Amino acid sequence: MGLKKNPNLMYKKIYIKTFGCQMNEYDSNRIFDTIKKNGYEKTDQYEEADCYLLNTCHIRDKAKEKVYHEIGRLKKIFRNKKKPTVIIAGCVAQAENQEMLKREPYIDIVIGPQSYHKINDVILNHYKNKKKKEETEFDSISKFNYLSKIVNKDSNVSSFLTIQEGCDKFCHFCVVPYTRGPEYSRPFDQIIKEAKELIHNGVKEIILLGQNVNAYNYKDENNEYKLSDLLYKLESFDEIKRIRYTTSHPKDMSEDLINIYKKSIKLMPLVHLPVQSGSNKILKLMNRKHTIEEYLIIYKKLKMIKPNIEFSSDFIIGYPEEDDEDFKMTMELINKVKFINSYSFIFSPRPGTVAAGLTLIDKKKSKERLEIIQKKLFDYQIKKNKSLEGKVLNILVENKMKDGIKLFGRTEYMTSVIFEGNEECIGKIVQVEIISSNQNSLFGKLIDGLKKKVA
Ligand code: SAM
Ligand code: SF4
Ligand code: F3S
Repeated sequence: MGLKKNPNLMYKKIYIKTFGCQMNEYDSNRIFDTIKKNGYEKTDQYEEADCYLLNTCHIRDKAKEKVYHEIGRLKKIFRNKKKPTVIIAGCVAQAENQEMLKREPYIDIVIGPQSYHKINDVILNHYKNKKKKEETEFDSISKFNYLSKIVNKDSNVSSFLTIQEGCDKFCHFCVVPYTRGPEYSRPFDQIIKEAKELIHNGVKEIILLGQNVNAYNYKDENNEYKLSDLLYKLESFDEIKRIRYTTSHPKDMSEDLINIYKKSIKLMPLVHLPVQSGSNKILKLMNRKHTIEEYLIIYKKLKMIKPNIEFSSDFIIGYPEEDDEDFKMTMELINKVKFINSYSFIFSPRPGTVAAGLTLIDKKKSKERLEIIQKKLFDYQIKKNKSLEGKVLNILVENKMKDGIKLFGRTEYMTSVIFEGNEECIGKIVQVEIISSNQNSLFGKLIDGLKKKVA
């Protein structure tokens, strides 16, 4: 006898597509945890979807156009079928709000990142009344209070956990303070409760997320909690094998956070610390609120505490007024720190930000500089990977590859490792001898009791 379906649920299929940062990935998962309560199932086939949700990113140019392009694709797919309910979420939704409903009638719902707690009501309402709806209020407290009542079902070996959202730094190039709102730190106990849910699901690595994750600061009547307090607490859970946090701002790299590297065993030795430029002049123009000297002090302190710590970063190339000398300083910084994995993009003027109206430098020059910097960054990445060949590394195994034979895992530095092994390794830290490498990945052999020193 088949299971009786609850008549109050909708039993519809949703297709979720996510652009942008890790926080958007986390949000998409939490949105699904939420709407699952209404009977939604996930599909990875566009054609099957009754509802299509696009979680968008607004960080660089063409973000908006990418969204409309995606809707164009959707329209074609559903040309001869019943149109799905189309929801635009994320940072473009926040920035563009009702404009999107006006420009593209195919869109039914526009919902910003601080309104996800309303999503079930908004969808139900849409089904009942067929009315279009835009929800873009900033209301982090209600959002996280609501979401904390919904169990996080993520069961990946490595899982994200948002602890802080929004930003008060207002770097002159960046849309985040406008799309994610003011800095908000979630209550400490709420985060620990969610971490326990992840542990229950079998998660072995937690990556704490925030636009300024190291600005995390939560006060209740008795205590004040910082990121370091969260890290200590997570370290105490036996089931958790690895802990990471991203993205940090250099200004918030406090002593308590730096010192945690002295004691922590589970905190991974890769620090993602975006610097954007190696020139103090450009940092000032960007409103980054720190100097290169201060950045290097953090670097040195961390290296002293733990010499095997490596750094990764974000760079913006061709910021207005960047001249050859400024660019040279960025290259010098890269040569000093030898970042092992970094992102670099040409400056993209964003509407509404201070830098939006500034005079751009020559496009060709920006492109040339980007090529030079990327070559340098990739060289360090390749060199680092090459230096690991012949070494035995501790790999946290995340899943099986599509070929069904190989396994995928990561080093302590987040580098992908591919090797043959059986499914029992998934969720465990195993030793893999690295045989070969390329820019992005290591390829190795699972070793069993081989008495080689772990690098
Ligand atoms: N909060 C982090 C920090 O302060 O370093 C960064 C968060 S932002 C989502 C990620 C990266 O996007 C930034 O570090 C920056 O390099 C890049 N980015 C932001 N706005 C940009 C713009 N207008 N043009 C090019 N890159 C941009
Ligand atoms: Fe954007 Fe700057 Fe805030 Fe980072 S610190 S999110 S770059 S405004
Ligand atoms: Fe993009 Fe918003 Fe993240 S603009 S990078 S999705 S915070």
